[in-house]
Amino acid sequence: MKVTLSVIKADVGGYVGHSHMHPKLEEVARESLEGAKEDRLILDFSVLHCGDDLELIMTHTKGEEDQEIHKLAWDTFMRCTEAAQNLKLYGAGQDMLADAFSGNVKGMGPGVAEMVIENRESEPILIFMADKTSPGAWNLPLFKMFADPFNTPGLVIDPKMHDGFVFEVMDVKEGLSIKLGCPEEMYDLLVLIGAPDRYMLKGVYTKDGKVAAKASVQRLNMMAGKYVGKDDPVLIVRTQSGFPAVGEALEPFSFPHLVEGWMRGSHNGPFTPVSFKQANPTRFDGPPRVICAGYQLCKGILVGPVDMFDDPSYDYTRQKAWEITEYMRRHGPFEPHRLPLEEMEYTTMPEVMKKLNKRFTRD
Ligand code: F6R
Ligand code: MG
Ligand code: MG
Repeated sequence: MKVTLSVIKADVGGYVGHSHMHPKLEEVARESLEGAKEDRLILDFSVLHCGDDLELIMTHTKGEEDQEIHKLAWDTFMRCTEAAQNLKLYGAGQDMLADAFSGNVKGMGPGVAEMVIENRESEPILIFMADKTSPGAWNLPLFKMFADPFNTPGLVIDPKMHDGFVFEVMDVKEGLSIKLGCPEEMYDLLVLIGAPDRYMLKGVYTKDGKVAAKASVQRLNMMAGKYVGKDDPVLIVRTQSGFPAVGEALEPFSFPHLVEGWMRGSHNGPFTPVSFKQANPTRFDGPPRVICAGYQLCKGILVGPVDMFDDPSYDYTRQKAWEITEYMRRHGPFEPHRLPLEEMEYTTMPEVMKKLNKRFTRD
């Protein structure tokens, strides 16, 4: 059986500020998707949140970029936007960039990761969802999962993984993509994905073309031509039997690496793996969070979720992340806590330069 997994997310209003999700929004989303399940448009669904981002996880048989499924997500977000407006939640409808649905939510604000899965005997899936960062945050963990033998021993000792994987990289500035195979093109790959603000991993495949991982690579700020909110990303990873084991896919997140985002989308901070109930970024509007929902797919039904980072063995990582938070915060308005000028989502630079321009003197 071929099943399509669509994870579509949007920030349709924050509670309080940009920190959390009002339960009413999740309730409205569940009602909307329950209706679609009764109408047999979708097979199953799950509604979750990470910070102020509403996550719609849906299974169906219609393939990627299906107009009806995208319309369902759009209409659901619109209903939630209305609920957010009624409660005067913060930034109600902030990711709904278009006035009307035009056939595909891509380019209209919401983030999308989708894959068609030819179900194996058993299909364990991990869905990672982040807040206060951008899709480049997946570059390091995806590389470790699918290319680093120090993270994933399966690459060395499992005959089903020993050929390596193919990475699809998107150049978000040029709108171009390229596929590179590992281990043979590993150093070329790293030249690109080591610059995650420009080159973002959007998919990983086996050497014989099976999909292994898909990420959302929408860039809200570029799509809107101006900053309208962070493009907090999602990532789907297939696991076990030829893909990384669940523990190999989770292991990269034991290192809270620095990612762009946090306060005003303009600061570097540690990418912190947390349980569902800890996914409410408040300190300095952060630090950036990631949750992971685990499911077994069974004939299109999402058996789960399991809250994968609700495990004390990540306490050390979290402790480290809180220390890094403290250390980075002490830099105040200085780089490398604050992003370089061209990467900031908020800037007063043009106004300041206009005012000061005439006062600069040549040495
Ligand atoms: C970052 C984020 C927040 C806001 C900040 C200012 O992704 O969502 O840090 O940028 O709270 O928000 P506004 O400009 O809406 O007052
Ligand atoms: Mg928000
Ligand atoms: Mg957010």
